[in-house]
Amino acid sequence: MVEIKSVGVVGGGQMGSGIAQLAAVNGLDVWLHDSDSAALNKALKSISNNIQRLISKGKLNKEKGDDSLRRLRCASSLEDFHSVDIVIEAIVESEDVKKKLFAHLDKTVKGSAILASNTSSISITRLASATIRSSQVIGMHFMNPPPIMKLVEIVRGADTSDDTFNTTKCLAERFGKTIICSQDFSGFIVNRILMPMINEAFHALYTGVATMEDIDTGMKLGTNHPMGPLELADFIGLDVCLSIMKVLHAGLGDSKYAPCPLLVQYVDAGRLGRKRGIGVYNYSKTAKEMKP
Ligand code: NAI
Repeated sequence: MVEIKSVGVVGGGQMGSGIAQLAAVNGLDVWLHDSDSAALNKALKSISNNIQRLISKGKLNKEKGDDSLRRLRCASSLEDFHSVDIVIEAIVESEDVKKKLFAHLDKTVKGSAILASNTSSISITRLASATIRSSQVIGMHFMNPPPIMKLVEIVRGADTSDDTFNTTKCLAERFGKTIICSQDFSGFIVNRILMPMINEAFHALYTGVATMEDIDTGMKLGTNHPMGPLELADFIGLDVCLSIMKVLHAGLGDSKYAPCPLLVQYVDAGRLGRKRGIGVYNYSKTAKEMKP
């Protein structure tokens, strides 16, 4: 089992930037790449702000914080990943796009490197099939936001080796996370259970069972969830939720997983949640909320 000293993170959105921050704070050398340079700059700025905030709150000592920022580098292309020990992919939830990336990474990174995916639902076995190192491909599913949430769901593909599994598990533990292991079926454990609940909350809103506030309050106070399902969907991103429902529907072959038409319509309208300032709720300063 190799000790992981450096990581390449692909995708600088909400998950990739959080994973890069977590890795840098835990002493790894980090290369962060995003195909959109504006997203990459935004990610670097947000990580730097987060680390400064942790220092000013006394949650991270200044020396460690400064060291984390020095460890974080921006990769203008995937070729910068040639020496990393592991790549953690956190790009858009699309099997085709992820497979193209995995095929490219397979040719770019060193032979011993592990290719991990933060996918929420897509088959690790199929992502691995885009490479000739399927024993070194694994699912490493962080929760949102990665620096705060305690869980990492590890998913073994059909060919994932014990060595790859053990190295990935050690890395997640070094990040202070609790591990759960899932077989490689659509949605794994967490999203197999969470996303149908979120989808059902959209159906409740769509069919006029209740207002969005009452649906969210019902689940917060009635079942002790920290966030209601519609608020949580906005936090995750409605595009991500829709992609996961499509994977569950196609992969598990049951109509109960069909995405709610209202969720589809919101995504079509560009209402992607907090990251766009509007989803189920409207986060702009001028409007308090949008009615569906
Ligand atoms: P996001 O939309 O915030 O960020 C995705 C980033 O990937 C964007 O900055 C985009 O420019 C970049 N990107 C897209 N295609 C690329 C490519 N080919 N090469 C390089 N960069 C590329 O998405 P988010 O929410 O960070 O999700 C990323 C992954 O993490 C998805 O697979 C998602 O299912 C998973 N995930 C999401 C969670 C959430 O709560 N949003 C929780 C756990 C996993």
